[in-house]
Amino acid sequence: MTAENAIWRATVLTLFPEMFPGHLGHSLAGKALADGLWSLDAHDIRSAAADKHATVDDTPFGGGPGMVMRADVIDAALTGVAGAGTDQAAPRPVIYMTPRGAPLTQARIAELAAGPGVVLLCGRYEGIDERVVEAWNMEEISIGDFVLSGGEPAAMALIDAAVRLLPGVIGSKLSFAEESFEGGLLEYPHYTRPRVWRDREVPEVLLSGHHGKVDAWRKVQAEKATEERRPDLWNRYAAKNL
Ligand code: ADE
Repeated sequence: MTAENAIWRATVLTLFPEMFPGHLGHSLAGKALADGLWSLDAHDIRSAAADKHATVDDTPFGGGPGMVMRADVIDAALTGVAGAGTDQAAPRPVIYMTPRGAPLTQARIAELAAGPGVVLLCGRYEGIDERVVEAWNMEEISIGDFVLSGGEPAAMALIDAAVRLLPGVIGSKLSFAEESFEGGLLEYPHYTRPRVWRDREVPEVLLSGHHGKVDAWRKVQAEKATEERRPDLWNRYAAKNL
C-alpha cells in the first residue's frame, strides 16, 4: 500500500490494551473500522518493561505522592511502533494525553484526521518522566479541565472525533457544515415530531417552510447559546464577526 492510499491509523500505548476498541468498536467508528476505513492497534506498555517484574513506574525524584512512568520503558514501547517519530515517510504525531496538555479543539481534530493517523500515549499514575516527553517531541493534549484516572477515555475521544471526519465515514459533508464549532459557534437547537409535546410547541418559524427565516433564526439561536454558555468562544467570534 502506498502512502497516498494508506488508511488512517491509530496506535495506542496503554497499560490497559483490553479497553480498546471499547466504544470505538460500535456505531459509526465501529462500522468504519469493520469496513477498513481506519485501523486501530493497542499496545501494552508493560510488554516493553525490561525486568522480570515488568516494572513500568517508579517513585518521583523530589518526593511527593504517586508513581511516575519510566522514560526508558515508554521509549522502548514507542520504538516498537512503526511510523512513530520523524524519520519516516509519513510520520504520525506522538500525542501524550494529559490534563497538562493544550485543550483539544475541532480545528486540531480536523488536521489530525487529514494526516496519516496518530500515536497516542495514555498515562496512568501521576504522569510520565518529562525527559521522554521532550525526547520524542510529544504533543501534549487535554480533553478538558478535569482529571481522569488515565488517558484512555481521552484517547478514545480524540480517535472518535477524528474518525467521523474521515472520507466515507459520514455520508454527507453537509452534516459538518452547521455543527458545533464550525464557524466558531455552538450549534442551534433541534426539534422533531410531535409538534406539541407536554404543552411545549416547536418554534413557529421552523414550521414556516421559509428557508431564509429558518436560517436566520438558527443563527440567532447559535449566537445566543454561545454567548450564554461559552464566553471564551463568544469573545473570539464577536471580535471576528460583529
Ligand atoms: N488524562 C487524565 N486526565 C486527562 C485529561 N483531562 N485529558 C487528557 N488526558 C488525561
